[in-house]
Amino acid sequence: MLLVTGAAGTTGGEVLRALRSRGVTARALVRDEGKAERVRQLGAEPVVGDLGDPPSLAGPLEGVERAYLVMPASPQQAEYELAFLEAARTAGVQHVVKLSVIGAGPDAALRFARAHARVEQALRDDGPAWTLLRPNGFMQNNLAWPAQVQDGVFYTPVPDAAFSLIDARDIGEVAALALTEPGHEGEVHELTGPEAVSYRDQARRLFGAAGREVEVREVPIAAVQDALVRAGVPRWNAEGLGELFEFYASGAAAGVTPGVQDALGRPPRSLDDFARDHLEELRA
Ligand SMILES: NC(=O)c1ccc[n+]([C@@H]2O[C@H](COP(=O)([O-])OP(=O)(O)OC[C@H]3O[C@@H](n4cnc5c(N)ncnc54)[C@H](OP(=O)(O)O)[C@@H]3O)[C@@H](O)[C@H]2O)c1
Repeated sequence: MLLVTGAAGTTGGEVLRALRSRGVTARALVRDEGKAERVRQLGAEPVVGDLGDPPSLAGPLEGVERAYLVMPASPQQAEYELAFLEAARTAGVQHVVKLSVIGAGPDAALRFARAHARVEQALRDDGPAWTLLRPNGFMQNNLAWPAQVQDGVFYTPVPDAAFSLIDARDIGEVAALALTEPGHEGEVHELTGPEAVSYRDQARRLFGAAGREVEVREVPIAAVQDALVRAGVPRWNAEGLGELFEFYASGAAAGVTPGVQDALGRPPRSLDDFARDHLEELRA
């Protein structure tokens, strides 16, 4: 049996889709029954549990051999993932495919990357067998952009920062491969899209594909962070996003890796593929 955590989220959903297209039914962890129907529609069997409440994981992990582990970035992310690993060891899980992030390491500039490094290290030290997925930023993040356009203007702190963003569908396919076929233990997949694209060009190409003309204007990072905090985003995450913008602006995430090609035997999806498949959301 396979367990997919974060099943109602971005990559978890893509992992379920990719498993379904391989004819594999997985158990899908959701935090509340309200999300169960969503994962049922992806062909999975919902189970309810919370990584912040480790005893709630015992039932969902019973009989599980392999698991996909993902948690949203938060001050608790590493702690919750470490608790999941402990519960997984107790339940006899043999292989964990963990979603990490590009540049993960104990001395990384990004707090998100340092948090992932703690969990990566725990897997290396105490198991179970692991596969690490270290993707660059997701194209799917940009589906939030249409709602952020004000009077035809899209604001970003780093319009000219280019990075090799990746379609989360490709991450889902690599995860499904590692979860269902033997021989992927101990692999680290550095996953990017096929090219580095600046925020300005991302906006031009995505909105352009949807027939919209949207101007891109620069806004101070602090203004974005304050707006996020006012909207209820924890200060830790807002500061982490500030680090991420600076990381992108430095060019550190502009490299293109062969990760998707090596794993799947085909090139990664492009930003134009992504736009074509999301025209409705981009027009909204
Ligand atoms: N976004 C990017 O560009 C990017 C790039 C590289 C790496 N990453 C990494 O990707 C991860 C996020 O992946 P994602 O976008 O697939 O996640 P996501 O969509 O943000 O969230 C995944 C799911 O986790 C569930 N969840 C939250 N807290 C939980 C808990 N305590 N117990 C059980 N489930 C819980 C949420 O459930 P609910 O639906 O109930 O809230 C949500 O459905 C982060 O670790 C981030 O560092 C992101």
